[in-house]
Amino acid sequence: MSLLTRRRLLRRAALSATAAGAARTGLAGTTAAGIAAPTVALGGCDSPPERTTDPEPDRGLRFPDGFVWGAATSAYQIEGAAKEDGRGESVWDTFSHTPGRIRNGDTGDVAADHYHRYAQDLDLMRDLGLHSYRFSISWPRIQADGSGRPNQRGLDFYRRLVDGLHERDIAPMATLFHWDLPQALQDAGGWENRDTAERFAEYADVVFRALGDRVPVWLTINEPKTVVQNGYIWGHHAPGIRDEGAAYLVAHHLQLAHGLAVQALRASGGTGRIGPALNLHPCYPADDSPESAAATRLYDGYENRLYLDSIFKGAYPQDVLDDLGPDSRMVRGVRDGDLKIISSPVDLLAVQYYTPIYVTGDGGMVRKWPTSEAEWQQIYPEGMYDILTRVTRDYGRVPITITENGLPCPDVPGPDGNVDDAGRVTFLRDHFAAAHRAIGDGVPLESYHVWSLLDNFEWAEGYEQRWGLVYVDYASQRRVLKRSAHWYRDVIRRNGL
Ligand code: FCB
Repeated sequence: MSLLTRRRLLRRAALSATAAGAARTGLAGTTAAGIAAPTVALGGCDSPPERTTDPEPDRGLRFPDGFVWGAATSAYQIEGAAKEDGRGESVWDTFSHTPGRIRNGDTGDVAADHYHRYAQDLDLMRDLGLHSYRFSISWPRIQADGSGRPNQRGLDFYRRLVDGLHERDIAPMATLFHWDLPQALQDAGGWENRDTAERFAEYADVVFRALGDRVPVWLTINEPKTVVQNGYIWGHHAPGIRDEGAAYLVAHHLQLAHGLAVQALRASGGTGRIGPALNLHPCYPADDSPESAAATRLYDGYENRLYLDSIFKGAYPQDVLDDLGPDSRMVRGVRDGDLKIISSPVDLLAVQYYTPIYVTGDGGMVRKWPTSEAEWQQIYPEGMYDILTRVTRDYGRVPITITENGLPCPDVPGPDGNVDDAGRVTFLRDHFAAAHRAIGDGVPLESYHVWSLLDNFEWAEGYEQRWGLVYVDYASQRRVLKRSAHWYRDVIRRNGL
């Protein structure tokens, strides 16, 4: 393990411990001591909710004609119906049912019950005026064990969903893999096993043939980096492994799976567009020292270039390969021709932006901005501008869609039943403005999907963090449009702020 990585792991463990403590003592969202004063209103939701519901003043900030506004979800986080219609088990079923893994022992067994309530949720999307809906397809609904004959009832569900979107004039955007790997494939080695990438391509082919005529945009793998880091280094996501050597081999196989799926779409004759969904973190030196600059460069390699260079330039970044070392499982696992597959031309890049990273000379991380309830998220809208312009500068004018950006808030319905999430409105407004500025500076950004449409199962945090525009009362499964949802509807109508 490299020095940088070792330090980073220690730092990360310390941050997590702090966050867990903060959440338990109700201090989440407070500012760490010594951070610089924020330039934006604290988007965290510990600010007192404003009671006014007056429409916002028009700031005259318009997005280009045809700009697409949407919202995003993922299968395991909202669907529930874990054992219905032939669905198999995924690694997240196993993980969430393992005691001690998820806050409060929550699972995705029922979640927001979207599998049964999708028609009502589609109506909500129409009422919001969404142009696009990004959802994910659950692999174990399509192939219970991750291979072989598809489960028609699983495909039918997504067919109904996609048809329902078209009926309401909402464009479907489907992610093929949002972390719910069939458990049977995990038992055979999961993403450490190169064969899983081949299975993924077969699954993708099944889905393309069933839905390819109705889905204009496909995303391959959601945030490969999160699987690598949370699933295989820190182990607080499924499959809960802590093995850096395995982690970067997984990074390679996930990218191989991405490339094979791109090729499968082309081979199926599908006319839809396809691209990767990457969570990108702008990395900044914590101070002016040359050590911080060097450490930041390597961080950027692990956070961003490891996934961007391979897909858009056909080569892994040399500094990361050097840091991993020639004997690492990843470096040994890359075969001739793999990078050619991984760099199969894509039609668009999906960017998910939540937080910047500040790196010290010794490879540690520091916070500069207030965090949200999610301790890893520093609220810094400028980071959105920086990452979008950087991608365009370094990788060319590939069309970009933002497929995730959002904020968790401790939302509670007030006495009048309304949910006044003023902090989320501030957060989104500032990030929309940053994206608008990036477009003005030449970024070919075509759409923006807020994370998330609905409150949902936030992985290791269970149901405690609420990220939705729409509040879900899990006991009754009642949906309530939060203030941010009403506000977002106005943004969409106006095509701007
Ligand atoms: C992203 C995930 C998404 C959700 C948000 C908050 O990393 O893709 O499922 O958990 O974070």
